Amino acid sequence: MNVLLLGGGGREHALAWKIAQSPELSKLYIAPGNAGTLEHGENIALDLNDFEQVGRFALANDIDMIVVGPEAPLVGGIRDYFESQDQLSRVTVIGPGKQGAMLEGSKDFAKAFMKKHNIPTAAYQTFGKGETEKGMAFLGTLEPPYVLKADGLAAGKGVIISEDPEHAKETLVEMLDHGQFGEASRKVVIEEFLKGIEVSVFVLTDGEYYLILPEAKEYKRIGEGDTGPNTGGMGSVSPVPFADKVFMQKVEERIIKPTIEGLIRSDIRYQGFIFFGLMNVGGDPYVIEYNCRMGDPEAEAVIPRIKSDLLTLFKALKDQSLDKHSLEISSKTAASVFLVSGGYPGSYEKGKIITGTERVTDSIIFHAGTQIKDGKIVTSGGRVIAVTSFGKNIRDALSISYRNAQQIDFEGKYYRSDLGKDLM
Ligand code: AMP
Ligand code: GLY
Repeated sequence: MNVLLLGGGGREHALAWKIAQSPELSKLYIAPGNAGTLEHGENIALDLNDFEQVGRFALANDIDMIVVGPEAPLVGGIRDYFESQDQLSRVTVIGPGKQGAMLEGSKDFAKAFMKKHNIPTAAYQTFGKGETEKGMAFLGTLEPPYVLKADGLAAGKGVIISEDPEHAKETLVEMLDHGQFGEASRKVVIEEFLKGIEVSVFVLTDGEYYLILPEAKEYKRIGEGDTGPNTGGMGSVSPVPFADKVFMQKVEERIIKPTIEGLIRSDIRYQGFIFFGLMNVGGDPYVIEYNCRMGDPEAEAVIPRIKSDLLTLFKALKDQSLDKHSLEISSKTAASVFLVSGGYPGSYEKGKIITGTERVTDSIIFHAGTQIKDGKIVTSGGRVIAVTSFGKNIRDALSISYRNAQQIDFEGKYYRSDLGKDLM
């Protein structure tokens, strides 16, 4: 089978690494990919949001399956486009259509969906144009901290949490009246703050049946001890000790099952990953957000723990036969540490030569912001390389990742050295 994988981050390198091990694979293309994905297939330049261009490439290269890494093409309707074209409808697209992707693409849609299907989530109200005063009044009824969310996709920046009521009101005005996040903040969700610890849970579903993937915890903030600004993720570990059998049973009964059933009842045929961003509030799971794809940096710890063949499972989505498959998962712990560019998530320099990857032993290296320039691997983004290792526990796995994090070098390299401490 010929596969086209869309995306170019650490998540996509992890997917490429896994897909390349499949006996089902003939040829793998990655668009745009990075210096790491080159090891597993051919990188090609495509505009992921230009579906006609992607379609032409798929036709010309006899593509059987498209695996969509990031959310934007899904929210934009890449699956619907392929299904609507005679010559492309035979291509299996891993990821939901436009409607299903609304679980991520519209926070208001996701909240209404959860409310309708009795899925535990923070209490909320949504406000649109001309409703700023009403929004302010609602803020007045809440206790701090205040949580404000732009309805649409905002590149991970659309959630503002504020302790200060005045700042929360100003933020509402900025979002609703001054278009702080453009189209994305034409509607704003204001919700109750949930206090607890976060965990990411993933399923792969064919629209009826689902397999629960290993859960993970990600580290979002740039600084040690979870301080400083949010990033695209500084690392992840899987499994998560507090997500024990009792907790995961609650997740399945209260969240996963009603979500799948809710999609069916809403006539949304959803085939792909569902990412549940959960808060563990005193032992009870609440949904913070849905995503319509795998997580990054979670994938860099989750994918290596999957022993089953991924392409076989993906193939089962198209003919809705996932119920005939099971998931074999490694019982080991995987820990992934991100090496990032100095200055990230603020401004940083690119083009720094990366050395020492050949000195790495016992870890898997997943590239993110890297490219080949003049025959050398150089940095091309804020998050550069994820170093993933297995161990018998978190401490063990992390110690191997940290040993190898020291072997790899580039000017300005930074990583958090406290990952997993909150779980040990
Ligand atoms: P993201 O949506 O990934 O940009 O980030 C949102 C982050 O804000 C989540 O990962 C949580 O840490 C936090 N968050 C979002 N909603 C809530 C909430 N209702 N209560 C507490 N924290 C929240
Ligand atoms: N790790 C969070 C995300 O992928 O959005």
